[in-house]
Amino acid sequence: MIITVTLNPALDKTVILPGFAVNTVNRVSATRLDPGGKGINVSKAVKALGGSTLVLGVLGGAAGGYIQAAMDEMGLKNDMVISREVTRTNLKIIDPLLKTNTDINEAGGPVSEETLEAVWHKLTRAVSPGDTVIFAGKNPPGMPDDRLADWITRLRGMKVYTCVDTVGEPMRLAIEAQPDIIKPNRLELGEILGQTLTDEASVLAAARTLVERGVGLVAASMGSEGAIFATRSQTLRGYAPKVPVRSTVGAGDAMMAALTHYTAAGCSLEETARRSIAVSAACVMCAGSEAPELDLVLPLIDRVRMERL
Ligand SMILES: Nc1ncnc2c1ncn2[C@@H]1O[C@H](COP(=O)(O)OP(=O)(O)OP(=O)(O)O)[C@@H](O)[C@H]1O
Ligand SMILES: [Mg+2]
Repeated sequence: MIITVTLNPALDKTVILPGFAVNTVNRVSATRLDPGGKGINVSKAVKALGGSTLVLGVLGGAAGGYIQAAMDEMGLKNDMVISREVTRTNLKIIDPLLKTNTDINEAGGPVSEETLEAVWHKLTRAVSPGDTVIFAGKNPPGMPDDRLADWITRLRGMKVYTCVDTVGEPMRLAIEAQPDIIKPNRLELGEILGQTLTDEASVLAAARTLVERGVGLVAASMGSEGAIFATRSQTLRGYAPKVPVRSTVGAGDAMMAALTHYTAAGCSLEETARRSIAVSAACVMCAGSEAPELDLVLPLIDRVRMERL
């Protein structure tokens, strides 16, 4: 089973607002609510690929209730810790007139030690050896920077595969705990190493550095250009097929979902890498944070070009 942990989810509220302006009253012409949060997106994508998945994390308040109801309606198995902190709402303002896209993101409320302990308790009750756990998204304020690293170390001791997709100091410390899979984009990979990665050669070198530090698989994603996949024994370059782009939201999460799902299914690195590019390309063809279904993914698999480096 693939278990995702989303400690700082968000309710994504998208409003269509023609002629958005400051210092005046703006009238919204349409509103859409989507449960957000990287772990939730990963689980949605795993489920669409036919995998078995469980969402763990923290929810609170009316926004949390909405996310819970949406997951239940989608048939997404979840076991959330209910906190007194209200789950954040991230506002996306789409202006079809001015052709602008504005994001107003909240940081999320602080997380208590008691809530973190409750999540860890649910996690240890849910996992079995051979399962995969993915920690995805920014840590909530108040979470100790070394907590993910500590959890990864403990899970590895339980023979559980670990994956992490976060940023900043928690990500750097998590990498020291030698997780099985990470999927930073070019910017995040540079941040981890304190470098600016200007070309493909520097992305490749950075991915290899993290493999040397003990990460099992580094999938360095480069948007429409595809991704580099590095392990101790192999390095592959995958080129994304050209597809009509509707929304790039969650492309990285779809890639993480595919990497874990096909690795757990016993696919080779090359097959896993190829499919992860097909799944993420299918994701950008979908609206909003919708997960790609298999019938959209399958025709793309043969269109992914792979090279050995
Ligand atoms: N325009 C595109 N066309 C085809 N494939 C794409 C496109 N954009 C992204 N992808 C696929 O999605 C993968 C992940 O995209 P990206 O590098 O943007 O991840 P990310 O920045 O982590 O995204 P996220 O916002 O979900 O965290 C890419 O490696 C590629 O395979
Ligand atoms: Mg990402």
